[in-house]
Amino acid sequence: MENCNIHAVGASAGRTQGASLHLRGITAVFFSPCSGTAGRVGLLCSALAQRLGLPVRRVDYTLPAARVQLPPFGPYELVVWGSPVYAGRLPNKLKDYVEASLRGEGSPFVGLVTFGNRSHGDALSELVGLARRGGLRPIGAAALAMPHVFSALIAAGRPTAADDEGLLRFADAVAEAVVGGVGCLPPFGNESPDAYYTPLRVDGSPARFLKATPQADVRLCTRCGLCATVCPMGSVSMEGLPRFGGVCIKCQACISACRRGALSFADGDFRSHVAMLEQTFTCPAPNVFYTLQ
Ligand SMILES: Cc1cc2nc3c(=O)[nH]c(=O)nc-3n(C[C@H](O)[C@H](O)[C@H](O)COP(=O)(O)O)c2cc1C
Repeated sequence: MENCNIHAVGASAGRTQGASLHLRGITAVFFSPCSGTAGRVGLLCSALAQRLGLPVRRVDYTLPAARVQLPPFGPYELVVWGSPVYAGRLPNKLKDYVEASLRGEGSPFVGLVTFGNRSHGDALSELVGLARRGGLRPIGAAALAMPHVFSALIAAGRPTAADDEGLLRFADAVAEAVVGGVGCLPPFGNESPDAYYTPLRVDGSPARFLKATPQADVRLCTRCGLCATVCPMGSVSMEGLPRFGGVCIKCQACISACRRGALSFADGDFRSHVAMLEQTFTCPAPNVFYTLQ
């Protein structure tokens, strides 16, 4: 299986050996309702920490309380930013926070997105573009295929050992770029996308499930309230049973956290979209990496 595309695309002339000595640490920032992105960012950052001898600071912006403040980056940090792909883009409800946070005085930046085997669309170029416009210096970018949080059948078994190996090779290239000290990824893809992917039903027509919310099975729900604590939008309250009000981004955090399997989406369009994904995206998608030459 060919599951790794490496693009060595950056301009890195005039490298200054030893520039990494000036870095004080790695800041790992991520949004990860179902933990897949957090796991990939974690593996990459521990490999980078080992290679560069730097400590890692974690900033998990999944829950609303964590987004009250913006993560500050100094010029002496390597910023690794991870996000899942939603509808071919960065999650739109988090866009303002991401855009406001991605400010830096030339800090080296690595963008990482995970996607559920359909397509990473414009999400990676969008993330790198926001970092570049915010004054960070993109030196690496990766789009990693993962199971789709809508269905355990899609890309089951990933990440594989080969996926891990690819990510560690990427860490080698990023560490080398950090030591190099200068250079920046040139623009790739669409750094200012405006359209989102329209989900489809099995018959190819648009699936409209924007307003859908999970439902609790009264026979299984123990009213423990865990679902309310993990919602990235703070949209679940406990009124005996969980009540889903406000914005639901369909991230599946509540469903995957529920130990009793009490939550699910009954919405017909949502289910049809999941069936379409299961039928169509059966081949393992490749991971894609952008590194400096
Ligand atoms: C609302 C939503 C939209 C998604 N859109 C896409 C998509 O456009 N392409 C894709 O391949 N995967 C898509 N996915 C799958 C996720 O990107 C993937 O499962 C990701 O690894 C989840 O990250 P997490 O485990 O950190 O939450 C979508 C998932 C959700 C919840």
